[in-house]
Amino acid sequence: MNYNFDEIIDRNGTDSVKWDGVEGRWGRKDLIPMWVADMDFRTAPFVIAALKKRLEHEVLGYTFACKKWAESIVGWLRTRHGWTVRPEMLTFTPGIVRGLAFAIHCFTQKGDKAMVMPPVYHPFFLVTQKNEREAVFSPLVLKDGQYQIDFARFRQDVQGCKLLVLSNPHNPGGRVWTKEELTQIADICHESGTLVISDEIHADLTLPPYKHSTFALISEKARMNSLVFMSPSKAFNMPGLASSYVIIENEELRHRFHTYMEASEFNEGHLFAYLSVAAAYSHGTEWLDQVLAYIKENVDFTESYLKEHIPAIRMIRPQASYLIFLDCRELGLNQEELNRLFVEEAHLALNDGATFGKEGEGFMRLNIACPRAILERALKQLEQAVNRNV
Ligand SMILES: Cc1ncc(COP(=O)(O)O)c(C=O)c1O
Repeated sequence: MNYNFDEIIDRNGTDSVKWDGVEGRWGRKDLIPMWVADMDFRTAPFVIAALKKRLEHEVLGYTFACKKWAESIVGWLRTRHGWTVRPEMLTFTPGIVRGLAFAIHCFTQKGDKAMVMPPVYHPFFLVTQKNEREAVFSPLVLKDGQYQIDFARFRQDVQGCKLLVLSNPHNPGGRVWTKEELTQIADICHESGTLVISDEIHADLTLPPYKHSTFALISEKARMNSLVFMSPSKAFNMPGLASSYVIIENEELRHRFHTYMEASEFNEGHLFAYLSVAAAYSHGTEWLDQVLAYIKENVDFTESYLKEHIPAIRMIRPQASYLIFLDCRELGLNQEELNRLFVEEAHLALNDGATFGKEGEGFMRLNIACPRAILERALKQLEQAVNRNV
């Protein structure tokens, strides 16, 4: 079966953060939304079918995690990631950011330190700080067009940190960390007594030929010292269902986290959460491979377009997912001027790079998970804006 990702679907009026949220955020409606990380493609059809089928039974009573929920996760991790887990290693979490917040509460005290590697997905440090923990920033280094880890700096910064919050793969840089990099992270964190929270929400969107490495599979030190968060939400475009899970190999850590979650029933999912995960993982292979091929073509399209028409903006080519960090520093604008160019001149709604930490100044984050015709229109608008203004 061939899925049609070129179809333009009007998402206005669906209470979509990305679309309906534009007016509240920018005070205008005439921007193409290319910010929040969801896709403008139809949610995978087998997920929609499973939800519709359940709705045919018109009693929406209390539910529990169906057997298929755990079975489908176990099957997916085995076939897609080469990871054999047992159902008891899984704990449901109502979203990964909330899962991170629960982990912060469970494993740290107020005033404790948690390390993040900016530029990075902003809730990593915002959730840390708003929960009265200290965020330690250990910046990545942009080298040869990709973000790299300066391990001497990393080793220094991580001392005294209770947690490392790792985006694996990385958002917004799109890096797929190599086994060697992850091994070093595991070794250093084991030495410094820092628990690793590996957020692998973008893992299923790793773009060939890159290969995702699950942190827990890297080494025994990694396996015994990590919580791995995963979800089908990004890959199958169902983040509104707030359905994710954490895998904890270390029995002691697992018991501690599960006990914490259970005490407040935070680990109770809703009816559609369990069903949608089971549907995505039971039927997802072909759809996912096709959406990945489409995203890769959008990445190629963006790269060629920028090179040919807007050479002053360079993109950091993502090795995973559909978010592209645009290096706009050559335009010579300050952050306010850069935002003005994108919004007022190009009529585009992107994420301001500085949101991800001060290392993101001079950058904008572009979401290309949209039909190609929209992407082309957006890039044309950007080209015209740059030509008029710079
Ligand atoms: C690295 C990363 N983690 C977590 C999330 C959000 O996850 P959730 O909606 O499950 O909280 C995102 C969304 O963009 C993300 O990029």
